[in-house]
Amino acid sequence: MPEVKVSGLHKKFGDVTVLNDINFTIREGEFFTLLGPSGCGKSTTLNCIAGLETPSSGAITVDGVPFVDTHKKLYVPTEERNLGMVFQSYALWPHMSVEANLVMPLAIRKASKEEKSVRIHEALETVGLSHLKDRYPHQLSGGQQQRVALARALVYSPSVLLLDEPLSNLDAKLREQSRAWLKRLQVELGITTVYVTHDQDEALSLSDRIAVMFDGQMAQIGTPAEIYEKPATAAVAAFVGSCNFFTGRLEGHHGGIALVRLDNSGILVKVASALTLDKGDAVTVAVRPERLSITSRTADVTGANVLETTVLTRSYVGSRYEYGLKLGTNVVQVISPSGDLDGAVRLVFEAEDALLYAGSSVPSAEAAELMTVAS
Ligand SMILES: Nc1ncnc2c1ncn2[C@@H]1O[C@H](COP(=O)(O)OP(=O)(O)O)[C@@H](O)[C@H]1O
Ligand SMILES: [Mg+2]
Repeated sequence: MPEVKVSGLHKKFGDVTVLNDINFTIREGEFFTLLGPSGCGKSTTLNCIAGLETPSSGAITVDGVPFVDTHKKLYVPTEERNLGMVFQSYALWPHMSVEANLVMPLAIRKASKEEKSVRIHEALETVGLSHLKDRYPHQLSGGQQQRVALARALVYSPSVLLLDEPLSNLDAKLREQSRAWLKRLQVELGITTVYVTHDQDEALSLSDRIAVMFDGQMAQIGTPAEIYEKPATAAVAAFVGSCNFFTGRLEGHHGGIALVRLDNSGILVKVASALTLDKGDAVTVAVRPERLSITSRTADVTGANVLETTVLTRSYVGSRYEYGLKLGTNVVQVISPSGDLDGAVRLVFEAEDALLYAGSSVPSAEAAELMTVAS
């Protein structure tokens, strides 16, 4: 199973740069996900690997074989790349049965009659649809159509599987079931997979590694735990999981702990950080809602950060409660197992539970608006 290497990939549509120096290497058998908001360039990247788009510059190799190298003016056409692709829309041929849909890619590759029949049987067994081979696409549910599309991508034993938001047309329940099924299948087949999604939950649960993209650029590449626990930028922290953001100024930095005076409340907090910053620098503190805890003001608490706050909102979200707490002009979102806290409470977190970023930009204007109230 091959390694996929993308180097210095740029793509312009007219004057607009949509990919700006994309680099990554996918290991053999890895489930690798391109994650980012709509329009950030995920599909364009995947299409460059597939040979459906020509990069403006850059190189792509699979298993050491160059598919594209713009310096050498080298370009291997799609049909010679032996990659399996599934699109969001499935792109099944509506006037053909399931079986006939699977014959097509084999016919293009000039497979013998016997090989066709064996491969089609195997591919349909793999996705659990052998009994439906005579049906037409409109006689299948969305989930079944998606499996046919996957079988069609697998039928000629591709070296790499390219999946562009294959689950996004399914309803929530089915999407979750298909996710688990897809993951099992990928592990079973051990096939190197490049997956595209804008859904962070999908990316976290499916991937061996994730590449987070914004605006045609890579923000971070790492395992799901690395991306979630140690987001490289405030934008990554905001996009993957929920996060509270506070802007402030650095008052000091000793022994790996930064002292930050928060802008909207004047409160001093301690944050573990190895950043090299100067006193007075603008910074942003980020904390995940589940890393914050709430206690009543009468309880004994110790911790690096114990802040006096009040409860603004509380809602039951199934097995736990979501609180909105007032901290100066910020609203802080906290996830808590207890549902009986009200009025004046304390917000507690360790220095290691918060993240520190240089600069005072809260990732999205929309998020910032949600997080502030009039004092
Ligand atoms: N064929 C095209 N011509 C012009 N612009 C395009 C074309 N394909 C994609 N784009 C633009 O490139 C950007 C990235 O698109 P895309 O890769 O489809 O994003 P994503 O898959 O992350 O949603 C978008 O701004 C999109 O409008
Ligand atoms: Mg897309």
